[in-house]
Amino acid sequence: MATAAPNQVGDPSGQRSEYRFPPGFQRNLLWFAFRKFRPANPILLFQHLADEYGDIAHYKIAWNHILFLNHPDYIREVLVVQNDNFIKERTVQRTKMLLGEGMITAEGAQHRSQRQVAQPAFHRQRIPEYADMIVQEGVRIRDRWRDGEQHDIAIDMMHLTLNVVAGTLFATDLRDEVDELADAINRIMGLYNFLVMLPAAEWLVHVRPPGLAAFVRARKRIDAVVYRMIEAHRQAGHNGGSLLDMMLAASPDPSAASEQALRDQVTTIFLAGYETVANALAWTWYLLSQNPECERRFHDEIDRELQGRPPAFEDVPRLRYTEMVLAESMRLYPPAWAMGRYARNDFRLGDFFLPAKTTVLISQYVTHRDERFFPDPLRFDPERFTPEAKTRRTKFTYFPFGAGFRQCIGESFAWMEGVLLLATLGQKWKLKLVPGHRVEPEPLITLRPKYGMRMLVEARDLPRHA
Ligand code: HEM
Repeated sequence: MATAAPNQVGDPSGQRSEYRFPPGFQRNLLWFAFRKFRPANPILLFQHLADEYGDIAHYKIAWNHILFLNHPDYIREVLVVQNDNFIKERTVQRTKMLLGEGMITAEGAQHRSQRQVAQPAFHRQRIPEYADMIVQEGVRIRDRWRDGEQHDIAIDMMHLTLNVVAGTLFATDLRDEVDELADAINRIMGLYNFLVMLPAAEWLVHVRPPGLAAFVRARKRIDAVVYRMIEAHRQAGHNGGSLLDMMLAASPDPSAASEQALRDQVTTIFLAGYETVANALAWTWYLLSQNPECERRFHDEIDRELQGRPPAFEDVPRLRYTEMVLAESMRLYPPAWAMGRYARNDFRLGDFFLPAKTTVLISQYVTHRDERFFPDPLRFDPERFTPEAKTRRTKFTYFPFGAGFRQCIGESFAWMEGVLLLATLGQKWKLKLVPGHRVEPEPLITLRPKYGMRMLVEARDLPRHA
């Protein structure tokens, strides 16, 4: 691991002399931001820090200390061993503008109780129930596509996974509202980078300067759909055991504050549960289109295991290559591309001693592409995820779903959904990137294809089944 650099950063904010900072930029980041990096692409900054300083790097923005970690020991230390000392960092706090106090942004007792309420809906035993509905949604889109059509697959996957979350977890058929919702969320994402970088953006949202009116409008449209969904469930006196029913049962009092809390929880699961999976699928279709040999093995597996019938929950363990493809896709294009924490108290990491209020950043995108952990890292190779390779690999070098007590609650759901949807669509179609279409990742809340993913839908020559 990296060696300690003596503290040379003069700081009027009460820094104690015994702090020991890792190597890093001697100048304030704002200087670099203007000269070297486009502030809009933090991945370039993170990659530079990893290349230049290795496992752990330090820099400052104004008087704030920031660490960037790129070693499994450090990552484990922050996410698991010392997790009591860390809360979510500022960017996450900023997402409160959109998500309010849902499970992703809440801390302490509030977080614990929300997680407890939602947990049964994500229990392993519940997951099989969702499989049929997921496949039905997949079949619906599969049967709408026509041979030779061009689609923005990123948008199609968003619509598909929005319908899946609504149907499975919230027992709601969005159908007519899905375009409205997807459009409003897209508008918010477009503004998001700008908003999180802007000091006091929360306050600006309330006073509505002209540039932010679009954010307020889009948030209202999302709220309207979410409130309608809550109201419909309340009216129906649902006891169906969906996640929404559980949330309603835990929040029986219809006061404005508890309505707002319910809205926050529902919006959080909605956004966390569809956008990540949609991006994982869009990147997977892209990677398959660029790697014909892997694509052939993927199609062979589906044909062999399913014999032409739609997939079901029981098929998931047998669709092993499909799962390996999805895993390798999330290595190269992790939908959650970075995570951040904020230290409550002074803390030690290896040889270093850091002050309270330090922000700690970790990037799945950078660590997953580190050649020490994944040789020839840019090569798409699902074989990295055979059961044997997985056992051999050092923990905390691959963590698309995070780790520790804030690890993704929807992980099992996401694996099953991803595998079933890939198999359902891949059974009938082959997707080819439209020639000349530009593909570039854009690190927003999730890692999106910046210019969408324009692909040509091509019917497969299906094998005959006995
Ligand atoms: C490929 C799909 C997904 C990826 C890559 C992903 C990734 C992540 C990551 C990295 C975190 C931890 C963030 C942190 O610690 O700062 C997280 C948390 C979370 N995810 Fe996911 N997720 C996915 C799918 C889902 C699904 C399907 C749902 C729900 C339907 C979901 C709901 C949540 C929630 C509620 C949290 C907050 C958990 C907590 O703080 O206790 N995610 N996710």
